[in-house]
Amino acid sequence: MSQALAAHSHFNIYPDSEQTELRELLQQYTGVGVEHIVAGGGSNQLIDLLLHLFVEPGDEVLNFVPTFDMFRFSTQINGGKVVEVVRDEKYAIDVKAAKSAISSRTKLIFLASPNSPTGNMTAEDDILEIADTGLPLVIDEAYYEFSGQTVTPLLKRYKNLMVLRTFSKWAGLAGLRVGYGIFPPRIAAYLHQIKVPYNVNAAAIVAVRESLRDIDYLRDKVKLIIAERERLFGELQKLKWLKPFPSRANFIFCSVLGKASELHRQLQARGILVRYFDRPLLRDAIRISVGKPEHTDALLKALREIEAAY
Ligand SMILES: Cc1ncc(COP(=O)(O)O)c(C=O)c1O
Repeated sequence: MSQALAAHSHFNIYPDSEQTELRELLQQYTGVGVEHIVAGGGSNQLIDLLLHLFVEPGDEVLNFVPTFDMFRFSTQINGGKVVEVVRDEKYAIDVKAAKSAISSRTKLIFLASPNSPTGNMTAEDDILEIADTGLPLVIDEAYYEFSGQTVTPLLKRYKNLMVLRTFSKWAGLAGLRVGYGIFPPRIAAYLHQIKVPYNVNAAAIVAVRESLRDIDYLRDKVKLIIAERERLFGELQKLKWLKPFPSRANFIFCSVLGKASELHRQLQARGILVRYFDRPLLRDAIRISVGKPEHTDALLKALREIEAAY
């Protein structure tokens, strides 16, 4: 990857605003035609672009909380009103509540599956029931490579269904900012019209080309992370003061029976960084990124030490 970036001698030239090569690469990777694909500077940029397309000030956007905060952020920045539908105690969505939260001003629905930061999937039947409302529905599959499950085949049947993906997680390209969406062709064409011309930079395009050339290596890494996630989950379950949630992503979300702030501080003092949450619907919780076996071992050792001192 770094060799391919160093060897690229055309960084003085603007990238292709039509995303021709990039969309062909993504077509090969996803099996979906180029007319369905729009790439963005991270999938975050596509969230914003979708709001530009569908939402006018005062319109409503349905959001299943707790979830990835960019759905709320971008909706509000674009003048939309976020209508929150609260997930249950296992962070599953409530379809009935979602349907009754829909109004004549609802213009867009966001749903991350696997969800972030909780890691759980939404059942396909639930997604279908929401898609049946006919409202534009965005399924954010940022962690698709770790879950192995996608709703992309349903796009044939549903003209209101859209899927967002990213190279930030499975391909490790977060710093280069490249994501993409799979849309009905009519929506993809509109998005191409309203996006800024050079929204995916030349280095990101080189990195996608290289990643897909080296896809077996990346797929092996994904498999290792999945195996490590399952081992970590089993070990965390043995600790009575932690409640890990089953995850289909590359992290594990845990409720802490006690003060998560204190656990976060003690882990940090041992050189281990986890994400700490203490906000409505995410009280006393941490999210652990899955790493190499030695990272799991170091974390477990630290947790046992902290447990002994509790
Ligand atoms: C659900 C979800 N979507 C999108 C993203 C961000 O993707 P990108 O880096 O492509 O903007 C994240 C990152 O944390 C995420 O959790």
